Amino acid sequence: MEGDRTAIIVEVGPRDGLQNEKAIISTEDKLQLIAMLAEAGLSRIEATAFVSPKWVPQMADHDAVMRGAARGPGLRLSALVPNEKGAVSAIAAGAQELAVFASASESFARHNTNCTIAESIARFEPVLRLAEAHTLPVRGYISCATDCPYEGEIEPSAVRAVAERLLDLGCGEIAVADTLGRARPERVERMLDAVTAAVPADRLACHFHDTSGMALANIDVALGFGIRIFDGAVGGLGGCPYAPGAAGNLDTARLAAHLASRDYGTGVDIDRLASAERFIRRIVPRQPLARDSAEARA
Ligand code: HMG
Ligand code: MG
Repeated sequence: MEGDRTAIIVEVGPRDGLQNEKAIISTEDKLQLIAMLAEAGLSRIEATAFVSPKWVPQMADHDAVMRGAARGPGLRLSALVPNEKGAVSAIAAGAQELAVFASASESFARHNTNCTIAESIARFEPVLRLAEAHTLPVRGYISCATDCPYEGEIEPSAVRAVAERLLDLGCGEIAVADTLGRARPERVERMLDAVTAAVPADRLACHFHDTSGMALANIDVALGFGIRIFDGAVGGLGGCPYAPGAAGNLDTARLAAHLASRDYGTGVDIDRLASAERFIRRIVPRQPLARDSAEARA
């Protein structure tokens, strides 16, 4: 990896960004957002979630979004799926990658997916089989990799154990997530120390929410471990409906600018990304976030 100054941004705004919005966002607006993000050079976009519409009504139009989303060479559209039903629908709609999501916390697994960690991973088995049959890559998320809204701090060994299970299952990439955006760099370092003992850095991604304004410092920690894949959401949209206290994802523009300042190219066109942000912020006005007040104090 020495000498390679490329980093990859996975744009999760259309899924993780919008899933928490109370207002109904039209399918047409979601498609426009995805098209603008693709034009901005984002090569991996998590377009929607094939989850239960009763659990996450905002993603109920997953089929129309995946079928209608912009396509192009060098662009990979992924879909979040919790089980076989979601995978079957996502593949039929043209998903080019699947993302399964486990948790390092039993309480969060229960709140988010109504099952234990082990049960959630068992549900991924048919997803992985389907993906293999369709030669689709699969990302495995680990939520609450540092903190859980119900259990507090999570032991790094618990994250590592889930990472090992997801690798064994056949996930090509493991995305560790600070779901609440609470972790300070020292804790991210402890967590990555444990996880990189089981997962090579080039198969790891980091998904930071920016509730406490620590996400960029945590990116630096991850870069130090050799990790080069990072999630961002346009305009810092986001949160998780089953994680009270989870505020926005790391803003893609801030992430791209930060990586550029560290001399990592991402291929993102900042001006076009700003257009995409203006577009979605007209529809989803910005709420004051904890990190805004942290920045204001700085
Ligand atoms: P359940 O109620 O326990 O499951 O939900 P069920 O099997 O009893 O099914 C209930 C109903 O959902 C049934 O319909 C199923 O057919 C339907 P009914 O018979 O009542 O009409 N159903 C589905 N519909 C569409 N697509 C599917 C699907 N599966 C079942 N795939 C379930 C279990 C896992 C489905 C539910 O808990 C669920 O959908 N949870 C998703 C919650 C979610 O999306 N959370 C946010 C994403 S995770 C996140 O944000 C974290 C992340 O960003 C990383 C981080 O920051 O930490 C990834
Ligand atoms: Mg998230």
